[in-house]
Amino acid sequence: MLTQDDLKRNVAQAAAEYALTCLSPDSVLGVGTGSTVDFFIDAIATHRDRFRAAVSSSERSTQRLRDHGITVVDLNEVQDMPLYVDGADEIDPGMSMMKGGGGALTREKIVASVARRFVCIVDESKLVETLGAFPLPVEVIPMAREAVARQLRQLGGEPRLRQGFITDNGCEILDVSGLRITAPAQLEARINDIPGVVCCGLFAISGADLALVSSQQGVRRIERPGAVIQDT
Ligand code: 5RP
Repeated sequence: MLTQDDLKRNVAQAAAEYALTCLSPDSVLGVGTGSTVDFFIDAIATHRDRFRAAVSSSERSTQRLRDHGITVVDLNEVQDMPLYVDGADEIDPGMSMMKGGGGALTREKIVASVARRFVCIVDESKLVETLGAFPLPVEVIPMAREAVARQLRQLGGEPRLRQGFITDNGCEILDVSGLRITAPAQLEARINDIPGVVCCGLFAISGADLALVSSQQGVRRIERPGAVIQDT
């Protein structure tokens, strides 16, 4: 019986093998954040001569990348990124994701927006029919916390401040429970519009192009229906 860490390690290894098919010695790789991504960084580090550098979505991942001798560059220096690899807290059949359990959602969304394809790496416990059992993280400017919380309550959620946590951007996170998210892209746009919201953890307007999902039986691929993967 494989442990959850074994499952994460297996999917990370599969993602590293997939990444090598997309990368060239000039490429910059987008790297997410979390325990699954930690395994991915360890796996891709063996092949660090196969790509030029990485852009990181958090101080945590930056540290781990550098510890492995991988060059980390500023996103402002990057015009083209073939691939972004990240985990998720939930992913639904339409490839919409709930992210931000590790608090890195804003930088994750920014780095992902530059990449030509988003590869989501999860174990099968993250596959859900409907997003929302995992509380939705919403990063907020601290002075707007209560104003944003009131609006989130009007949307049917129950926001809770993530105690003692400050994001890499110096902001706070409200974790919103009680939402059953049947229209994730619409809810993402609605929450993005609340003044004081920096970013919400729904990745639905732009979801994953490919999910690699590990289980006791191995790692399987799920492609987003109609995903247009732009190759150079
Ligand atoms: C961090 C994230 C992570 O991708 C998400 O929380 C999954 O993490 P893990 O791989 O540790 O289960 O969005 O902000």
